[in-house]
Amino acid sequence: MITTIRVLDETTANKIAAGEVVERPASVVKELVENSIDAQSRSIEVEIVDGGINYIRVSDDGIGMSAADARLAILRHATSKIRTADDLYNINSLGFRGEALPSIAAVSRFTLTTRLHAEPIGTYIEIQGGLVTDIREAGGSVGTTVTVSDLFFNTPARRKFLKTPATESAYIHDILGKIALARPDVAIKLINNKRQVLATTGTGRLFDAAASLYGYKAATELLPLDYTDGDIHITGYVGKPHLLKSSRQWQTWTVNGRTISNRMLSKALDNAYHSLLPKNGFPLAIIQIVIPSDKVDVNVHPQKNEVKFSDEQAVFRAVYKAVLSALETAKGPQQIAATVSLPASSPGKIAEEFKRTPENNVVPAALFMLKESNAPVWREETLPVTTVRETMQSATELPAIRYGLHQDTHDRSSLVLRVLGQINDCFIVAAGSDGLYIIDQHAAHERILYEHLAQSAGRVPAQQLLVPRVVDFDERDIDLILQNEPLFYELGFRLEQIGPRSMRLLEVPSDIPGTEIEGLLREILSALHNMQTPKAHEIRHIFLQTAACRSAVKAGENLNMRQMQALIDELCSTNRPYTCPHGRPAIVRFTSAELAKMFKRQ
Ligand SMILES: Nc1ncnc2c1ncn2[C@@H]1O[C@H](COP(=O)(O)OP(=O)(O)OP(=O)(O)O)[C@@H](O)[C@H]1O
Ligand SMILES: [Mg+2]
Repeated sequence: MITTIRVLDETTANKIAAGEVVERPASVVKELVENSIDAQSRSIEVEIVDGGINYIRVSDDGIGMSAADARLAILRHATSKIRTADDLYNINSLGFRGEALPSIAAVSRFTLTTRLHAEPIGTYIEIQGGLVTDIREAGGSVGTTVTVSDLFFNTPARRKFLKTPATESAYIHDILGKIALARPDVAIKLINNKRQVLATTGTGRLFDAAASLYGYKAATELLPLDYTDGDIHITGYVGKPHLLKSSRQWQTWTVNGRTISNRMLSKALDNAYHSLLPKNGFPLAIIQIVIPSDKVDVNVHPQKNEVKFSDEQAVFRAVYKAVLSALETAKGPQQIAATVSLPASSPGKIAEEFKRTPENNVVPAALFMLKESNAPVWREETLPVTTVRETMQSATELPAIRYGLHQDTHDRSSLVLRVLGQINDCFIVAAGSDGLYIIDQHAAHERILYEHLAQSAGRVPAQQLLVPRVVDFDERDIDLILQNEPLFYELGFRLEQIGPRSMRLLEVPSDIPGTEIEGLLREILSALHNMQTPKAHEIRHIFLQTAACRSAVKAGENLNMRQMQALIDELCSTNRPYTCPHGRPAIVRFTSAELAKMFKRQ
């Protein structure tokens, strides 16, 4: 009988399994470190060279393996962690498949050195592309060390998909940081190209691990979580609302000590924040969920990065409530609400505003003018003018017509408005030749600043900082800044790296208040993170938008008549007075005819 079906040999099967288990160097590090944690290690050291592509070493002080176990460990489906399928529903270890070591060894040059506490001598095993090339007795300290060199040397297609060493090391940094937060009782260290870039102390306190990773200053900005709903317990920390980050990278989720990601849970976190603070960005969060192990299935993802809850809704609700109560109790409602709500309307104040005469005003209108003389470091290198035009165009793509405005009926010279007063410290009421105008003061100033900034065709005017400022970033942000140096230069920033996670700000865009600079930088980074292939003009547009928004007078600022008139005059002289750079309306108009209709005069 002819048979065409063949059972694959072990080496080939392992190579195929590796395709699922080992996606990149960070997956190797994750598997090895999880093995070390399962082996009750107190201290784990990871060393990588060139993003882990050329070399990874994971050394632990765990229980180690006997010579016989070490030989078994490298076989497929060999595990000490479960015995039967039933055990899958009550898993208390990170590993359970018995696949990681043979999969890694199938696609690299692999060595394992291990020794039990009770044994005087240990075992050394060497495997190249899945074939055992050496097994012998070896000395060494108690515990296990695995080295992985030349990852994917025998699967070139895989190797081609790897990113630059800098990006691969950022992935490793990221996952190791998350594991360190999941297990603050284990001291975890990362050495990248001979430089120590991460080290936790293993005190068992989550706060200490967070402080080691994010810096002490950031850690003091964390609000503790402690919430129980039935048999779901939630602990951890969330950042205060202003600690919004540029990506989800700053969110660590653990379920029964396992680092996972889960969209539904991220949504619960976002919802809790955004109900209080409608801002872009991702809150910093370390959320540890403890749930009976029979209510969560850990065997649903090839890299064990996801889990399935038997009652997702219950976990969603618990996370939402845990975060919300932390935000509410720790911050005090008015502090959080202050950034979103306008002051309560006060008729007395408005009436007073209307009574004001120009003579009463003392603050010069020049308050609203951009200080052009403040741009000492102006350089002539320019972006092509077309870029600026594109920028301007994209800024105005949202048609004002949507808001019932008839933009084309006014060109910039014909709009003349006389200020009548301010409502709620937010809206300016003005009279025009053809009706009543209500102007959103923030949107209006945003538009003015945007056009001022956009007029500088080349580098955004910058100013040197007399006392350079040090700003902390994570490694991925630093990579982004270094990779996009010319772009940051165009936008008025000059930075130099002074530490693994800090940079010195030497020049910053002028005309941007000092307090806004850091937030502005982070928003550019956020845009760079979130865009696939960002174009210079798109980033510039985002920068101009954000810079204008951050520097503009806020809703809630009381303005005098002269300030308001200056603002309105400037607004009317812009190309697009009707919308802010985000496309929201800056002016709403009631024509004389509409007013007449409202008063039933027609
Ligand atoms: N660092 C270590 N210290 C002690 N024992 C280890 C270590 N690494 C692996 N082992 C042993 O080798 C076995 C196989 O490891 P491997 O990672 O391949 O599978 P696993 O951890 O059981 O399951 P998974 O494939 O889900 O990770 C483990 O079950 C464990 O007994
Ligand atoms: Mg394992």
